[in-house]
Amino acid sequence: MTSFADRVANIQPEGAYEVLARAQELERQGRSIIHLEIGQPDFQTFAPICEAGKRAIDEGHTRYTPSAGTHALREAIAQHISATKGPCSPAEVVVGPGAKPGLLFPILALVNPGDEVLYPDPGFPSYRADIELAGGVPVAAPLLESRSFSFDLDFLRDHMSDRTKLLILNSPSNPTGGTIPREDLQAIAQLAIERDVWVMTDEIYGDLVYDDQDAPSFWSLPEMRHRTILVDGFSKSFAMTGWRLGYAAMPPALAEKVALLTMHAVGCTAGFTQQAGVSALQQCRAAVQAQRSVYQERRDRIVDGLESLPGVSCIKPSGAFYAFPNVSQLGIPSSELARRLLSEAGVACLSGTDFGAYGEGYLRFSYAASLQAIDQAIERIGSFLAAGSR
Ligand SMILES: Cc1ncc(COP(=O)(O)O)c(C=O)c1O
Repeated sequence: MTSFADRVANIQPEGAYEVLARAQELERQGRSIIHLEIGQPDFQTFAPICEAGKRAIDEGHTRYTPSAGTHALREAIAQHISATKGPCSPAEVVVGPGAKPGLLFPILALVNPGDEVLYPDPGFPSYRADIELAGGVPVAAPLLESRSFSFDLDFLRDHMSDRTKLLILNSPSNPTGGTIPREDLQAIAQLAIERDVWVMTDEIYGDLVYDDQDAPSFWSLPEMRHRTILVDGFSKSFAMTGWRLGYAAMPPALAEKVALLTMHAVGCTAGFTQQAGVSALQQCRAAVQAQRSVYQERRDRIVDGLESLPGVSCIKPSGAFYAFPNVSQLGIPSSELARRLLSEAGVACLSGTDFGAYGEGYLRFSYAASLQAIDQAIERIGSFLAAGSR
């Protein structure tokens, strides 16, 4: 009989993958499904990036690279971070296949069994999984709708102790679309200094902020740099989810350990993908800015649509491409509601509880989808509610 290690006893899948599989099964049976479950851009990767990738293959960038990434990409990333967030050198950057290794490997390098790690709830499911894989104790820190989905700072104050090794931030957030205001970042920084805690700031949606706003970066706080890990990547900004390219910036001594974990776990990231990444950073900033206005129009459309539904309210998210409506007045548990919307209305979305217990009473809709799909989804949900689901 097979007996598995304790570290995988509680490991949970990402809800989005499960719902996608269920939705595709229904489509195979002939049902029409509107996909608002998946958190990936519906744009094609920008043309200069594709060209650079193809050229790199033709030029022979098909071999192993240094584990931490090619010098050209680490330098381009360091320049990009320095220009947009705060000073950064190539020695602080580790490249990986996606942003996910930038979450897992620093957590493995910092967290000892029994160490507590505070993470946002509702939040990206890999945070909890990664903390558990490291043997850490996950402590869910609630995000509050009443604070536009920033943290409950009193909770952080009460739960950050000498057992706490790390705090994870995600701004703009998956699943809420909320951003953490500068004054909250400063309060968090103060607490982290007082309690000697590391801070991991996942800013993968940092380019997708609307209404001419920016999401302030934790990397911009100089007094925090020696205890900060900045996680970012190419998947969302440049529509490169399948290329698998991301990075993390951190103090050089930690970067060395993370590069060794990268070496033993994955070897390196594909060289031609890294070449494409250099082109993304150097040639495609204008395209990233232009897609913001497309997402902003979609955000406005879905939020207005959700707000028009009886028993549903939705604050306007400032970033990412997710709407996180409050559906608690409908009196149906979120996971049941999400299931029924898929099977009865043909609208695929996620339950707030796919992102933690504090997600009860909410649904997550990805608006990385056409305006037409958004309109149809709202119409279908409206009919579902009118048909007496309440
Ligand atoms: C908040 C957050 N962090 C990290 C990731 C992982 O990104 P990647 O696909 O580049 O590994 C995602 C992907 O959905 C995300 O939403």
